[in-house]
Amino acid sequence: MSQIINPRIQAYKSIENNAKRINLDYKGNAKLIDKLLLEMRKHRLFSHPVFEALRDGVLNKKAVCNLHLDYRLIVKQFTDLILITQFKTRELSSLSDNLFMDSRFLITLNIFDELGFWPGDKQYLGNPNLSHFMLFDKVIEDLNISEEEKNNFKNSVEAKYLYEYLENSMNDLHRLLVYLIITEEGAMYYSPAMRKSAKQYGIDVSKGYYNVHGDTNDTLTEGEDDLHQEDIVKIMQIVITEENYLQFESTFHTLCELWANFWDAQYKRVN
Ligand SMILES: [Fe+2]
Repeated sequence: MSQIINPRIQAYKSIENNAKRINLDYKGNAKLIDKLLLEMRKHRLFSHPVFEALRDGVLNKKAVCNLHLDYRLIVKQFTDLILITQFKTRELSSLSDNLFMDSRFLITLNIFDELGFWPGDKQYLGNPNLSHFMLFDKVIEDLNISEEEKNNFKNSVEAKYLYEYLENSMNDLHRLLVYLIITEEGAMYYSPAMRKSAKQYGIDVSKGYYNVHGDTNDTLTEGEDDLHQEDIVKIMQIVITEENYLQFESTFHTLCELWANFWDAQYKRVN
């Protein structure tokens, strides 16, 4: 019988073996991705002045509420993006059905997390109200934002632009993979600062949305965003090649810019 302890590691091993079977340069491709990740982390998105403004409590309550309402558009869309990415891995079938299933299996771990499941003893645990989107809406509620304010909120042009770009990317597996990698990095980078600013205005960050985001080294949270990013990196390792490297590089750049513009819009609210 196949090993079932630590499904993530089982999937990583399976991808590596199945990639070897079709002579894919899996290890070489990891080097290409390392280069892209290094470049991504140097982008201004990950040294944005809004980070300190959030961390140091410079944003007033109105700005923090508006940030959450703007962010809500992107949080709501995230479930769609992760689900469509899982669906689009059907393209990997042309390389190998095993790699196709390995990828779907891996993405399921992130989907479980996003939709509010928890590991349990001999059964799944969970509740749809623990889905990350619902947890985020609870933050909005706890910020005392009314349903009316929520429904009438006018998103920033920058948030709408990012949203629309992604709505138009649902058919593009490569673009979806890049988006997921950047967004997990963003969740790790911005969550501690957003958590502080939410706490400043009375949100209990020891539970709920702010407790399930961050990386596994962050002892203040139960977030696993670094592992979710690593899963997507493993899938990208199947599809990246020397030939499409520049295309991937340009997609990383475009999406980092769109995210940075989103944060510019939030930063404008400081002044
Ligand atoms: Fe999430």
